[in-house]
Amino acid sequence: MKFNYCGNSGVQLPALSLGLWHNFGSVDDFSVATQMVVKAFDAGICHFDLANNYGPEPGSAETNFGRILKNELASHRDEMFISSKAGHDMWPGVYGDGSSRKNLIASCNQSLKRTGLEYFDVFYSHRYDGVTPIEETMQALIDIVRQGKALYVGISKYPPYLQQQCYDILKEAKVPCLLSQYRCSMMDLKAKLENFQLAKDNGSGVICFSPLAQGVLTGKYLNGIPENSRAAKSTGFLQLSQVNNERVEASRQLNEMAEQRGQSLAQMALAWILSDERVTSLIIGTSSVAQLEDNLKALDNLSFSQEELDRINEICTKPNIQFE
Ligand SMILES: NC(=O)c1ccc[n+]([C@@H]2O[C@H](COP(=O)([O-])OP(=O)(O)OC[C@H]3O[C@@H](n4cnc5c(N)ncnc54)[C@H](OP(=O)(O)O)[C@@H]3O)[C@@H](O)[C@H]2O)c1
Repeated sequence: MKFNYCGNSGVQLPALSLGLWHNFGSVDDFSVATQMVVKAFDAGICHFDLANNYGPEPGSAETNFGRILKNELASHRDEMFISSKAGHDMWPGVYGDGSSRKNLIASCNQSLKRTGLEYFDVFYSHRYDGVTPIEETMQALIDIVRQGKALYVGISKYPPYLQQQCYDILKEAKVPCLLSQYRCSMMDLKAKLENFQLAKDNGSGVICFSPLAQGVLTGKYLNGIPENSRAAKSTGFLQLSQVNNERVEASRQLNEMAEQRGQSLAQMALAWILSDERVTSLIIGTSSVAQLEDNLKALDNLSFSQEELDRINEICTKPNIQFE
C-alpha cells in the first residue's frame, strides 16, 4: 500500500480507503461484507469510511462494521483509521437531520454505540445544510474532539465560499481540519477545480469519494445494465438516466486507453485521481472481493503522459459527461 500524509498533519492514510455506503447494510450479504473488510485490511487499506445513515437500513452499516471488527479484527483497532459523519437525514423529527449541534453530538454518540468503538479517528460534518451557522457546526466538531469522541475532524461537500470559514474556525480552536471530503472522478471535475487548492493551502488533506463515478468508470455498463449493479438497483443513487449514451461512449474510449496502459478502466480511473499530489486518499466502494482486488492494482501504475492527460480531459469534458 502507498501512504500519503493528510495535509500538514502527522497522520498518513492509505491511498485507497474503503467506504461502506453501499453493500454493508442489513439487506446485504454479511459474509461478503466481512470478506471485503478483512481483505481490504490485509491489503493495507486500513481506513474505513462510515456515516450514521449508511445501510440500508440507516445505521446498519455501522452496526455490521462493529460486528466485523469484533469478530475478525478486534486486536487491530490501533492499526485502523475509522471515520463517521452526521448531517443527512437519519431519524424522525427535527433533530435527526441537518448540521446543528444537537444533531451532530447525538449522532456521534449513536454511531459510537452502533460500532462499539470508544472513539472515531475522524468525525465529519457530512454537509452544509443551508441554514445552520458554520460557527455552530464547527463548534460541535471541536467539542466532539474535546470530549474524546474523535481524534480529528473533517468537512464534507462544503462549497468553496464556506470552506475557508470552516478552516479558520477550526484552526483558531487548535482543532485543524484533517480532511476535506469531496466527490471527484474523471466525470466529476468540479471539486478538483474549486476545492482542492483551498484545502491544500489550509493544510487539510483531500479525500475523494465516488472515484469510479459509482461504477460508470469501470466498464461494467459498456454492454447494457448488468443485473445487481448499482444502476439496476432501486436505491436511486445511480439512476438509469445517469448511465446515458454519452457517458457509456466516454467509458468505451477511456477503456481503450486503459487497455493500452495495461490497466482496467477502474484502475486507470483511480490512478488518474491519485496522480494529483493534493489528494491524500480515495474512498472506493466495492460489492465483491474481486472488485477490491481489481482496484488495488491501480497502485501499480500511477503515472500519466501529458498526451494521456490531454486525451482524458478531451473525452470527459464533452457535453453530458460531467455529473455537475
Ligand atoms: N461524503 C459524502 O457525502 C459521500 C457520498 C458518497 C460516498 N461517500 C463515501 O465514498 C465511498 C465510495 O462511494 P461509491 O461507492 O460511490 O464509490 P465508487 O468507487 O465510485 O463506486 C463503487 C461501485 O462501483 C462498482 N465497482 C467498484 N469497483 C469495481 C470494479 N473493479 N469493477 C466493476 N465495478 C466496480 C461497484 O458497484 P456495483 O454495485 O454496481 O457492483 C461499487 O459498489 C462510500 O462508501 C462512502 O464511504 C461519501
